[in-house]
Parts: sequence; C-alpha cells; structure tokens
Amino acid sequence: MQYEIFRHFDLLKMIKIPYLNDLGLRICFQFFTMNILIVGSGGREHAFAWKISQSPRINKLFIAPGNAGTADFGTNVPISVTDFQSMRTLVLEHQIKMVVVGPEVPLVEGIHDFFANDEKLKDVFVIGPKSEGAILEGSKDFAKQFMFRHSVPTAAYLSVTQANLEEGIQFLRSLTAPYVLKADGLAAGKGVLIIDDLNEAEQSIREMLGGMFGQASATVVIEEFLSGIECSVFALTDGNDYKILPVAKDYKRIGEGDTGLNTGGMGAISPVPFADAEFMKKVEERIIIPTVNGLQKDGIDYKGFIFFGLIRVNNEPIVIEYNVRMGDPETEAVILRINSDLVDLFEGVGEGNLASRTLEIDSSSAATVMLVAGGYPGDYEKGDVITNLDGIAGSILFHSGTTFSGDAVVTNGGRVIAVSSKGKNMDEALALSYKNAAAIKYKNKYYRTDLGFDL
Ligand code: AMP
Ligand code: GLY
Repeated sequence: MQYEIFRHFDLLKMIKIPYLNDLGLRICFQFFTMNILIVGSGGREHAFAWKISQSPRINKLFIAPGNAGTADFGTNVPISVTDFQSMRTLVLEHQIKMVVVGPEVPLVEGIHDFFANDEKLKDVFVIGPKSEGAILEGSKDFAKQFMFRHSVPTAAYLSVTQANLEEGIQFLRSLTAPYVLKADGLAAGKGVLIIDDLNEAEQSIREMLGGMFGQASATVVIEEFLSGIECSVFALTDGNDYKILPVAKDYKRIGEGDTGLNTGGMGAISPVPFADAEFMKKVEERIIIPTVNGLQKDGIDYKGFIFFGLIRVNNEPIVIEYNVRMGDPETEAVILRINSDLVDLFEGVGEGNLASRTLEIDSSSAATVMLVAGGYPGDYEKGDVITNLDGIAGSILFHSGTTFSGDAVVTNGGRVIAVSSKGKNMDEALALSYKNAAAIKYKNKYYRTDLGFDL
C-alpha cells in the first residue's frame, strides 16, 4: 500500500504565491520534503512511522520490513534489518534521504558505516551511530570501560574470559549476593543473569564462558548488584549537542508486581514521578554530558539516540546500561509527548546542527499497555485473528507483532499491540489504555493490569 502524502502539497497549493505556478510549487515541495526509510518491525518503528508521517517534511515513507500497523503510514518493503545491500537498492531507487534505524542489531553490524563508506549513499542521513559508537550496546565490557574512563557513575565490575577466570571467581567472592553476570555481547535481551547463590553463580560463569550465549558470552561482565528503581532516559545527539527526550519507565517482567520471566517489555509510562527536575539535573550533569563529551574525546562520531538505562540508588542516578537506540515499549509512550517535528530534529542530527532545532515536550502523561500472546515469553501461538481494532477510541495502537493474513490482521509475535494513551496524569492515561486493551480481541490475549504500581 503506497501512501503518498499529497495533503501537504494541497495545503501548499492553497497558499497563493505570486509568480509560482503548479510546476514551481511541485519543485518547491520536492525540495522541502524527503523520502525516508525506517528500519525495523516493532512497536517502536510503528510509533516512528506514525510520528514521521505527520511531518510536513515527509514525501514517501518506507519501512523495512514493517508490520501490519506501519502499512497504514508507508510502504512496507520485505527487507530484513541486516540486508544492507537490498536497502542500498531501495534507497537509490527512491532517492531516500534519511534512514531511521530502530533496533540495535543493524547498528552493531555497521549499517551506518555501510552507508558512509558508499560513494552513492554517503550523503544519506543515517539516524543511529556507526559501529564504533554502537559498541556501547554491543559490548558491555566496552561500555563499562567507557564509563570508568569518563567518570560516569556505574556499578563496580570485572570482565572475565577463560584467561582470567580465577581472578573473576575471586572478584565474585568479594561481592555480596545477589550476583550479576552479563554476557558481553548482544544476546537478544537475555544475557543478564541475577543469581542468589554463590556456588551457582560460579557455575554460571563457567557455563557462560563455555558458550551459554554463544560468542556473546566469551567475555562475561561480573557486576556489583544495585538495588533501586529503574528508569529510561533518552538523548538525541548529533555528536556535539544533545536534546533530552521525555523520561520513561518500562515494565519488563511478565507477571503482576514485577514477577516472573523477563520479556521485551509489558508497558511503559512517561514521565516518571521520581525522575523530577532535581534528579534529571543530576542525570544531565553526571551522565549525559560526560557521555557525549566522552564520545568526542574518544573520537567517536555519534549521531543518533543514546538510551541510558538508569537505576536510582539513594536518590542518585547510576547507569545500568547504555543502548544505542530508543527503547521499546518506551518509545510508544514517549512519542506521544513529543510535540515537535521528528524529521526536523533528525535533519539536525544529520546536518550536525541539532542545537538550532526545537524540541517541545508535552507536559501531559502517556501510558502504554502491551498486549501479548498467551504463553509469552515462553512458547506462544501465532496467526490468531485480531478483531475490534476499529472500535478503539482515545488510544493509539502501535503494532508490535502483527501481520496480514488476507485482509485480516493476525498475531505474529509475542508482543502483539501496544495500546498508548495520553492523560492529564498517569492514572488517567493508564485508565484509557486499559479500557481499550480490554476491547481488543484475540485468542489468549494477556496484559499486565498493574502498571505504575511502584510509583
Ligand atoms: P541489562 O540488559 O544490562 O539492561 O540488564 C537487564 C536488567 O537486569 C536491568 O534492567 C536490571 O533490572 C537488571 N540489572 C542489570 N545490572 C544490574 C545491577 N548491576 N544491579 C541490579 N540489577 C541489574
Ligand atoms: N525497554 C528496554 C529496551 O528497549 O531495551
């Protein structure tokens, strides 16, 4: 389904500009607007597509590979997120000017480098760091070294390989339970183990080094356990300046009261009451500025999002992890509170003049409730028909794991649909999302009903 946004062109035509005929206007429109590719297929990418399609700067929007929701805002192209060669063909064919990268894997695998090193693609704005910056997420050992080098507060740690296993065991014994063990590399969100028993932790280190997460755990980061409440802070940077996006909190566990297995995220809220002005001032001064400056000092040219996974300990922010992309499902809440044009901000990132762009944040609250497939994060069914999507009022639905089966929208993943709403406070936003979460129907639908319980 191709969706060309002529609406803006029609608006332009209504403004009668002397001496400018239809052709002239069309040329102005071509100059003013651009074709954009979003890479990814989840709720985060649907949220980007929804927001970008509202920009007066968009001409044609493509999503690779997208989902049933993104198809409402642009053309889904069946290209996987790491198939850079096919993206090259698409970008050249449609004169795409900007590529917005959703997930971490293509960034770590060098999508931005691929574009920068190609004579015909080098002027395309890629929103997301090159691999030298993406390593902040791609290697936890690198991220820890970076934080210590630039005095960014983070937990004590030791990185271990087979070569210094004994030292690692000694370090582990010097810590108090519970023990935090992290696979150094990307492990699809599963690479962190938190273990109460020392013997079990020692055993797990050996198993991780022995290939529990493949090559990703050839190095293991042993970390001091921090106790506190977490939040997600996002900055957009052009490498010099940065803008802080709305703060959010996600809910990772499958069960009510934050119990049970970790998931890709069961919901999010924004803003976060405890992340008040005083806390955010500390975050900016002690974490965001040293990180952006640290990247510069290390000679890393970073253009894109930095996601600071933070924990509050004694009202002090400490970094648990960096990600090099927006969070999912945080984006589905945060996006509702960004009043400014994302394309304008992204252009500022690409052109290196982010400081001259405006980011206006809505003071209202946003809440996202994730509908998942029964059984998730374990085994679950796909292909169940989703109904009543048209009967939703007051919320925006961002599809996570959906696809088309004929004309029907069917489930196609563990996380199915993010139900996002705005309200004057968190409770009002949540109530609206819950009302609509209840109205959407498919077999074995599940969602948490206690989001915000800890705030
Ligand atoms: P990560 O993949 O690094 O975000 O870790 C996943 C989750 O493990 C985090 O969101 C935290 O809830 C938890 N976690 C990671 N590191 C620590 C730590 N040092 N202390 C306590 N919890 C942690
Ligand atoms: N919501 C956490 C993440 O995107 O990694």
